[in-house]
Amino acid sequence: MRQTAMIKKIATKQLQPGMYVEDTGLTWHEQPYLFTHAGLIRDSQQVERIVEEGYLDVFIDTAKGFDVDRPGSPGYDDLVRREAETAQDGAAAGETNALEREMPEAKRIFTDSVRYAKSFMGDARLGRPIDFVESGNMVDAMIQSVSRNAAALLSLAKLRASDEYTFTHCINVSLLSVLFGRHLGLDRDALRLLGLAGLFHDLGKARMPEEVLNKPGKLTEEEFAVMRRHPAEGFLMMRQDKRIAQEVLRGALEHHEKFDGSGYPRNLSGDMISPFARIIGVADVYDALTSARVYKPGMPPNQALRIVYELKDSSFYPGHVEKFVKCLGIYPLGSFVKLSNGEYAVVVAVNPKNTLHPTIKIVCDAALRKTPPRTLDLAAEVAARGDGAPKILTCLDPRPLGVDLSGLDD
Ligand SMILES: [Fe+2]
Ligand SMILES: [Fe+2]
Repeated sequence: MRQTAMIKKIATKQLQPGMYVEDTGLTWHEQPYLFTHAGLIRDSQQVERIVEEGYLDVFIDTAKGFDVDRPGSPGYDDLVRREAETAQDGAAAGETNALEREMPEAKRIFTDSVRYAKSFMGDARLGRPIDFVESGNMVDAMIQSVSRNAAALLSLAKLRASDEYTFTHCINVSLLSVLFGRHLGLDRDALRLLGLAGLFHDLGKARMPEEVLNKPGKLTEEEFAVMRRHPAEGFLMMRQDKRIAQEVLRGALEHHEKFDGSGYPRNLSGDMISPFARIIGVADVYDALTSARVYKPGMPPNQALRIVYELKDSSFYPGHVEKFVKCLGIYPLGSFVKLSNGEYAVVVAVNPKNTLHPTIKIVCDAALRKTPPRTLDLAAEVAARGDGAPKILTCLDPRPLGVDLSGLDD
């Protein structure tokens, strides 16, 4: 079986022959200086070429190749270990609805919001005025559903096979921002504005040429210059409607700015970046990594969190990534896990007060043969059976094991 990936970010000039480069699936306009061509580094000439081409950073997988010697700053594994040690057990989540009960309403909200995202992106593409009025109701419904049960909507967003990335991405980023904002302690009014900013953060992409927008490979300088305009394009479109709050405009305009000033469009750094944009920035990269696109399957949640974690000092506001990891849990929704009884399961709901014991759906037997899905609330199992309850042993990448997790919400 494949070893657990050990992904870390290093500077391209630290690359050495024998290191294995991991493909994050992030495109050039998301991380312009990131080298993402997967494979083993053969010789030092290859390193020189990568550095000369202007790439500054690269992710390596130390389970597949050499590591770099560096004094150990606490890594993602340390964070997860600390989290596992301090995670509380058994406390009620304070949610009023069980997952199953919230599901029909969550499905309705999700379908409605994808339909709405299609209509506002379509209007924006055709230069028609955008109906922003519906967005308020949409985000309100989302916040209400999340406060009844946080996992229901998120499970739809994450488990759905995504051939409509442009639209589902708007919804996912809005939803993840709301969940993260709630975790950070924002009040209801702030959450509503944050949800709107997340919903419209990529509105400007509607004005980007389709062939550039969906290009899987590296963009040319010219194409990249075009793509970099999408935050400002969205900002200009929204500014025409005087009812849209300043925080929403800034959330969209600044979502690609980075803490160290390497982002765009204005190279803002540190506290100059608006609080909403800092939150949306984290949600945006996480969703881009975990989403399936036409040219790549989605990355497993724990692997995506590793990548986001490695970007914490350069891209994101101090402390935000650690809190985001806490917010999503040790076994984030959508994780493929191996159980102590040998079976394999997908995490379908995370109890924020008991992240060690999520609700799972068992999908494969010990020989990795698909079985009829069986839902199991691990917290309830532990309460009923104590040590006899199945435990999660590890998160795995389903892709090399040939397991397809799409369509599980049906
Ligand atoms: Fe964007
Ligand atoms: Fe985005």
